[in-house]
Formats: sequence, structure tokens, C-alpha cells
Amino acid sequence: MKVLVIGGGGREHALVWKLAQSPHVTELWCAPGNAGIAREPLRSGTGTARCVPVDAEDLPALLKWASENRPDLTVVGPDNPLALGVVDLFQSHGLRAWGPTRDAARFEASKIFSQQFMERHGIPTARAATFTDPAEAIRYAETLGGRCAVKADGLALGKGVRVCRGIEEARTAIQDLMTRRVLGPAGERVVIQELLEGIEVSLHALCDGSAALPFPTAQDHKRLGDGNTGPNTGGMGTYSPTPFLSDAELAAAYDRILRPWQEGCRAEGILFRGVLYPGIMLTPAGPRVLEFNVRFGDPETQVYLTRLENDLFELLMAATEDKLSAHTLRWSPQTSVCIVMASAGYPGAYKKGCPIEGIEEAERIPGVKVFHAGTGWENGRFVTRGGRVLGVTATGPDLPAALQRAYRAVERIRFEGAQYRRDIAFQALEWKRAGRPA
Ligand SMILES: Nc1ncnc2c1ncn2[C@@H]1O[C@H](COP(=O)(O)OP(=O)(O)O)[C@@H](O)[C@H]1O
Ligand SMILES: [Mg+2]
Repeated sequence: MKVLVIGGGGREHALVWKLAQSPHVTELWCAPGNAGIAREPLRSGTGTARCVPVDAEDLPALLKWASENRPDLTVVGPDNPLALGVVDLFQSHGLRAWGPTRDAARFEASKIFSQQFMERHGIPTARAATFTDPAEAIRYAETLGGRCAVKADGLALGKGVRVCRGIEEARTAIQDLMTRRVLGPAGERVVIQELLEGIEVSLHALCDGSAALPFPTAQDHKRLGDGNTGPNTGGMGTYSPTPFLSDAELAAAYDRILRPWQEGCRAEGILFRGVLYPGIMLTPAGPRVLEFNVRFGDPETQVYLTRLENDLFELLMAATEDKLSAHTLRWSPQTSVCIVMASAGYPGAYKKGCPIEGIEEAERIPGVKVFHAGTGWENGRFVTRGGRVLGVTATGPDLPAALQRAYRAVERIRFEGAQYRRDIAFQALEWKRAGRPA
């Protein structure tokens, strides 16, 4: 079978790596891919995955390429092509594509749609209200003592949310978004949520019209600096599982979120085929949904897929046919950790083209796989090409073992100005030190 993956970051390398292990997959392309993806061998013995020089958001060019090369399945990684309707476009041309349609992608593309859907269907979330008028927004923020999250409605490359702890901060955030329009039209309408305190975790569920199969927990680290300080990034590291919820608590959380969500989708005629990824705050009053994403997390995918034992190709094919209910997800009991290595300057402006050394040495450590996020190949070597460059991923029998392998691997890799967090999973380690249940 021939498979096309759309996207070119660490998540897509992990998707390609996992799909490449399927005996069904005899040809694997990635648009645009990256230098690591281009070297990923196929288990079926037919060479490596291949990069296609087409941008992930250039829908006409993707359709043209796919019409000529006829992949049996197209797997969409990032949110933007989904929100632009790439799945609808492919389907309308008789091409099988995995991922939510544009309509179903509104759970991520519109925070207002998502918030109101959660309220209509009793999904546990933050208290919130929606505004088009900045003065009214400020009055609402005042009722919360300024302790709130101000969220632009549309996709804003992870820059659309401002977490505020006082009224001055909230006023500035509202004025930036709604009056000064620092994010353009995305700030026309905002959701303001009450500030929730707690440990933040990622959940994922693979969904189709027949079933929603929940994943274990993972935790991302959005801030650039150790101790969750500094600016927000796309994500600096992940691990799975986390110790914060027992199996029973996790099952209960999924039940309280996924059941009403599925019923809501059914009632509103939304057919969702893809990954639903709720961002969750574990508050003293129980788990609360902060937002929904409609795709695999990046870098959550790197730790999930290194633990998933099923054939991913079979799962995604089943999802496109509403046959997921016949499948059970199987997870390795091992812990996976992913440490992101980023370019100097990221998440601001950064230099490109710096040579990278040591990837092969790193991968000689047992259990280590280096996923490429922003890399290229120049003059016979890997070079940096993005803000997030590599996702150094390791599995081990427990969290300390996986962390030790991952950091040993990171230390073998060198490029100019490489920055990474030294404290991935610090909350889990603190949790265990405090003697709380695993
Ligand atoms: N209601 C809230 N209370 C506390 N923190 C929040 C709240 N909503 C969002 N956040 C923080 O802001 C981050 C970004 O918000 P989120 O809704 O996930 O938007 P996006 O991922 O699209 O930027 C979250 O990961 C979380 O850390
Ligand atoms: Mg988020």
C-alpha cells in the first residue's frame, strides 16, 4: 500500500517511522518531510520513505501530486491543512484521507465553537464567556479578579492565549488581542476562561463514527525554560505515561469527556474521524478541558508511538471506514521520554544551516530514537533548518531509566547554540518523591 503523510516536523517523523514498520506499507511519502524522514527505512524492504517538495498548506499542489501518485491513504499531521479542508478536498477527488474534515476540525480551529460545544454537552471545562466587545471582555475579566485565560478564537500558531493573574495583565491582553489586533482578525472574538490551577496533561483518543479509543496520559512542557519559565514554545519535551491519574481516574476522566463529546457530535451531525486531543488541567475539583486539538500532539506523538504496539496503518485505515470499534489499542508498559533540542533564539528568530553531529552515536544507546523536526541535508551532513530541530526520544522500564537514556543521547548530539530543557518530567519526579501513588 502507498501512504502519503502531510507535514514535516517531529510528529510527522514519528508517524512515518511507525507507518514504516507496517508490513502493508510498501511506499511512503511525506510532504514536505525532513532529512530524517527521507532516511527512514521501510520494514517491507522497499527502500526508505521519500520526501515530496510540496508545502503542507498548499492544497492545490497536494491534490495535484496525490492525483498523479494515487496514495492508498493520506495521513494529515498538522492542524492548518485540516482547518483548510484538505481531507474534504482529497475525499471529493476519491482519495482516502485520514483526519477530521474542515467541519470537524472546528474543535481546534475555533475556541468559541469548542467552548460553547462543551457547555452545550456538559463536558467539564473552565467557566467562560465569549466576547466581541473589548469593554465587555474587560468587565468580565474584572469579575474574575483578572485571573483568567484570554483566548483568540482562531488558529494562532500557539500565540493566541494569554494567561493572566491580575486585572492589569488581563486588560493589556484583551486590548492587545481585540483593540490593537496584534494577531490580526484572530482577535476579533475572544473566549475568556477562569484561571484553573493544577497539573496539566495531554489526553488523546483515536476516533471514528464507531468508537473513541483513549490513549494513556502524556505531559508536554510548553515553556522554553526549566521550571516552566520563559516564553511559550511549540513544546520542549514530553513523557508518557504520567503518574498523576490512576487507571481508574483516567478511565473516569475519559468517560466524563469522551462520552458527552461523542453524544454531542452525534446530536449535531459532526462525523469526527481522527485524533481528538484534549488539553486537561487536573484541578482539585477534577479534570477540566482547557481546549481541544484535532490531531496528534507534537511532541506527544513521539512518546505515544514509541509505546504503541498496534500496526498504525491498520488503525488509521480502520478509522477511515468507521471500523475502529473492532480494534483495541495495546501499549508497551515502558515509559517514553522525548527531549526537544531547539535552535539558539527559538521561539524567536533563529539561525539555520548549523551542522548537527552525533545523531548516529545517540541512536546507539539502547531504546533511543532521534526524531527529526527541523533538519535538512547539506554537503553530506544534517543541518538545522527549524526552531525545533530534534526530538530525542528514549524508552525504558521506568521514568528515571528513560530519562537517563534520553539525556545521555542528548549529550552526544551537538549543534551551535542547541537549547533544551534539563528538567523534563520534573513534576512526575516531584510527585514520586512526595510518595504519591504512581
Ligand atoms: N483556563 C486556563 N487556566 C489556566 N491556564 C490555562 C487556561 N487555559 C489555557 N491555559 C494555559 O495556556 C496554554 C495554552 O492554552 P490552550 O487553550 O491550550 O491554547 P493553544 O494550545 O491553542 O495555545 C495551556 O497549555 C495552559 O498552560
Ligand atoms: Mg494547547
